[in-house]
Amino acid sequence: MTEYDLAIRCGTIITASSKMDCDIGVKDGEIVALAKNLGPATRNIDAAGKLVLPGGIEGHCHIEQKSAFGLMTSDDFESATISAAFGGNTTVIPFAAQHRGDSLRQVVEDYHACAVPKAVIDYGFHLIISDPTPEVLGQELPALVKSGLTSFKVYMTYDRLRLDDYQMLDILAMARREGAMVMIHAENHEIIHWLTDRLMDGGNSAPKYHAVSHSRIGEGEATHRAIALSRLVDTPILIVHVSSEEAMDEIRRAQDLGFKVYGETCPQYLFLTAEDLDKGGMDGAMFCCSPPPRDTAAQEAIWRGLQNGTFQVFSSDHAPYSFDDKGKLFAGPNPPFTKIANGVPGIELRLPLLFSEGVGNGRIDIHQFVALTSTNAARLYGLFPRKGTIAVGADADFAIWDPEEERTVAWKNLHDRAGYSPYEGMLLKGWPVTVINRGRLVVDEGELLVEPGSGEFLTRELSAFAKPLHRLEPEVDTTRNFGARILS
Ligand code: URP
Ligand code: ZN
Ligand code: ZN
Repeated sequence: MTEYDLAIRCGTIITASSKMDCDIGVKDGEIVALAKNLGPATRNIDAAGKLVLPGGIEGHCHIEQKSAFGLMTSDDFESATISAAFGGNTTVIPFAAQHRGDSLRQVVEDYHACAVPKAVIDYGFHLIISDPTPEVLGQELPALVKSGLTSFKVYMTYDRLRLDDYQMLDILAMARREGAMVMIHAENHEIIHWLTDRLMDGGNSAPKYHAVSHSRIGEGEATHRAIALSRLVDTPILIVHVSSEEAMDEIRRAQDLGFKVYGETCPQYLFLTAEDLDKGGMDGAMFCCSPPPRDTAAQEAIWRGLQNGTFQVFSSDHAPYSFDDKGKLFAGPNPPFTKIANGVPGIELRLPLLFSEGVGNGRIDIHQFVALTSTNAARLYGLFPRKGTIAVGADADFAIWDPEEERTVAWKNLHDRAGYSPYEGMLLKGWPVTVINRGRLVVDEGELLVEPGSGEFLTRELSAFAKPLHRLEPEVDTTRNFGARILS
């Protein structure tokens, strides 16, 4: 008679705050024991010499989603979740994106229909709100938050998605009432628009000018404004995909003043620069994303933000578009930078990149790595402690890492459908070799062991970082939060 369905034996178990050398016992998809020399199990995995980490939680990715240009990503829920799993993830939270005129309820139903038959690991949805009508704000959104979609993203730029400050305040006030987490794409739309017109007037249309038009000053300004709006209504926000020191400094300053402002950054801001957008021919289009990669000084600044806790989460912002007329080059073989699909793939390499260059080179420690790639996302997005840690009672979600394994990145060995990797040729040390989701062996030694449709939808709790605030709490300084006072 076995005690456990699965036992992972003799590994070094790492969480955001602890290190244990012991076995893990799993029953019915949950962790039921953490101790040395556990009793018999139906299946045993020898993790000696390996690190057993909580499965990665990919909190920012675009899967089977239409972009701001109306273009479909090259990955669907099957290829994206397989790719995520090979990269050490056990949960993804992509976006259910509302385009103007869409009913939010219908949008969510459509995304469920896409994900249910295809996902191989667990998933939730953030919402993207581009049309905050009274119906959306008053009924659909509160109902969806209550049903477990407890976070959403808003855009301050992109013609087809952006909200003005008035709409942002409406959204933030609604988030305050419901306790939802608001993710903000912060870039100044008018600055981008104005610079784009000047560049195009001067005949400067090559991909590299995308990075010029999305200036770091515009990113810093919009970040400052987003923080001001969140302060006005006393609502937490997460500034996503931060690329520049200008934006990071705004976040840090707000945090130092005690405001509930959180930050996310991504691999493209550590490993790419604007020079990549100047590769020969149209190759620079492969690196066009918003905000764009900056320079080596910005990369160092972003590393500092990861080290000193300015950033709580490190996500891929996986937004895959093939390098052809179905994706990046949808507007023809030589499009101006204004007509290149925005986004880079990265769901499979997010963790190996940060492990190799961050942990391997001593920039962050292994506990920071776990916090940035799993635990903090679980807390921010209402999944903790079910996900994001290794503890009795938590889901049995693990990535078992071989810290010594070296591989050179080649897209042909990855599992997404972008057709290229921005990180091609990089030598990375430390890779996930076995990935387990709710006790199911998903990936082992390069093999996918589960069927499409075996991932489960996650109904999320309210964020640990954002609770409903119908009334002012005593410690809130009303002189600094006038907007919050009139709301309550
Ligand atoms: O360029 C990017 N990041 N595309 C994806 C959409 C977004 O804004 O996150
Ligand atoms: Zn964005
Ligand atoms: Zn994104």
